[in-house]
Amino acid sequence: MSAVSLDGLWMAYPNAESENGIRVVLEDVSLEIAEGEFVCVLGPSGCGKSTILRIVAGLEKQSLGTVTTKSRPSVVFQEHGIFPWLTVAQNVAYPLKLRGVPKAERRAKVDELLELVGLSDFSKYYPAQISGGMRQRASVARALADDGDVLLMDEPFGALDEQTRVTLQQDLLDIWDRTSKAVMFITHSVDEALLLADRVLVMSTRPGKIIEEVKIPFERPRDLASLRRDPRYAEITAQLWAVLGSDVAEEEVA
Ligand SMILES: Nc1ncnc2c1ncn2[C@@H]1O[C@H](COP(=O)(O)OP(=O)(O)O)[C@@H](O)[C@H]1O
Ligand SMILES: [Mg+2]
Repeated sequence: MSAVSLDGLWMAYPNAESENGIRVVLEDVSLEIAEGEFVCVLGPSGCGKSTILRIVAGLEKQSLGTVTTKSRPSVVFQEHGIFPWLTVAQNVAYPLKLRGVPKAERRAKVDELLELVGLSDFSKYYPAQISGGMRQRASVARALADDGDVLLMDEPFGALDEQTRVTLQQDLLDIWDRTSKAVMFITHSVDEALLLADRVLVMSTRPGKIIEEVKIPFERPRDLASLRRDPRYAEITAQLWAVLGSDVAEEEVA
């Protein structure tokens, strides 16, 4: 079974300004993510990426189509994903508590997860006392505390400075390698998609649909420096930009 399977997904919101009273945001989106696969959904701002993610997460109901996931997905948002009134450790423990994991086991699991994301020394800190990068690490740890096989990430590093982003991308690859979860990672960055993904799905501008699928052939472990020395890197980057650009060009003509 696939980790995530979307079939003929449509999404429309009410819109008083349009003739038919609706705004179509997603048009017939179908995709499959295999178990353990890392898929990036790449598209311009406003094309419906977050909408897809919210639907897969079960936070919103699609207008048409079916969504199947192997287990209940865990989500990491761009910002404000953790509770400000709980410490880092309490945040990570939260899903375990909800599941009724006994205290001793919970402690051990929290320690293990904090170690995994490099936050062992900050377990007692509150979100306001740590950096944005650390908050995202805590958010990742909390998502990993869910038992599921599916991790959804909506531009999780988009609000961070370049240096922090690069570190967290690298750490995420490391974590993914050790956890074998399927990841659906939303981004508008071609570079980020090339670094992270097994496969990139490119979306068009609104109404969002998938207009291209590109397999990313680079061996793992990956880092941006060696990727950039690979001649295929420039090739695939150009291909992705061409797809993104052609769509924008069509929009301008229309
Ligand atoms: N609750 C909503 N009601 C009406 N329109 C919405 C709603 N949520 C998103 N949209 C519209 O759907 C489109 C896609 O939004 P979104 O999924 O956030 O795009 P992205 O994440 O790719 O930037 C945008 O045009 C946005 O204005
Ligand atoms: Mg978004």
